[in-house]
Amino acid sequence: MRYMQIENNPIRRFAELFERMQKTDVPEPAAVILATATSDGKPSVRVVLLKGFDENGFVFYTNLESRKAIELRENPFAALCFYWEPVDYQVRVEGSVEQLSEAEADDYFATRPRGSQIGAWASKQSAVLTKRRTLVLRFLKYQKEFWGKEVPRPSFWSGFRLIPQHIEFWRRQKNRLHARDLYTKDGHNWLISTLYP
Ligand SMILES: Cc1cc2nc3c(=O)[nH]c(=O)nc-3n(C[C@H](O)[C@H](O)[C@H](O)COP(=O)(O)O)c2cc1C
Repeated sequence: MRYMQIENNPIRRFAELFERMQKTDVPEPAAVILATATSDGKPSVRVVLLKGFDENGFVFYTNLESRKAIELRENPFAALCFYWEPVDYQVRVEGSVEQLSEAEADDYFATRPRGSQIGAWASKQSAVLTKRRTLVLRFLKYQKEFWGKEVPRPSFWSGFRLIPQHIEFWRRQKNRLHARDLYTKDGHNWLISTLYP
């Protein structure tokens, strides 16, 4: 028996929290830990920015030659973990991952500041850089190449959508009796279970 009615759609619940977080002084509520793993299950984590979410999934963008992208191609599953201190929530999302369409990636790339667009061309993300100067020179080279023109999206830069299978909301409570609601996708529905803290 539940003591409190909880939102039965986790995407709506996430949206409501995310909205609340926009009103706090946290500079980047969209920053989220992204976990990936190699095909033999060795995990790695890093921060990315969540750039969109809806019923279809959670979207972030990156270089397709980066370590995370290589891992996502060989093992297309990932997990996200948000910790939103002002609202006292942790949100965990797990599921499979698909690469965005060319059109979706183009649309988002076009909205980025010009410096970030040129930076995307300049960075061979996750490859070894022997001298910082090489990176700066690459930036200047692409700045010149695209001078007075729109910067096209590099073919090695796109985004991924994490299609959630599990979404868990953790809310702090007294005496460490924290409240955990786990939503599991079952066809078109979400099953809700409560977990011990
Ligand atoms: C606040 C913050 C936001 C970041 N956002 C992104 C992002 O949206 N996409 C991205 O590729 N890297 C982002 N990064 C850099 C990544 O954390 C990481 O260093 C980089 O993507 C290389 O990761 P990889 O070698 O595991 O692929 C961000 C870092 C921080 C601290």
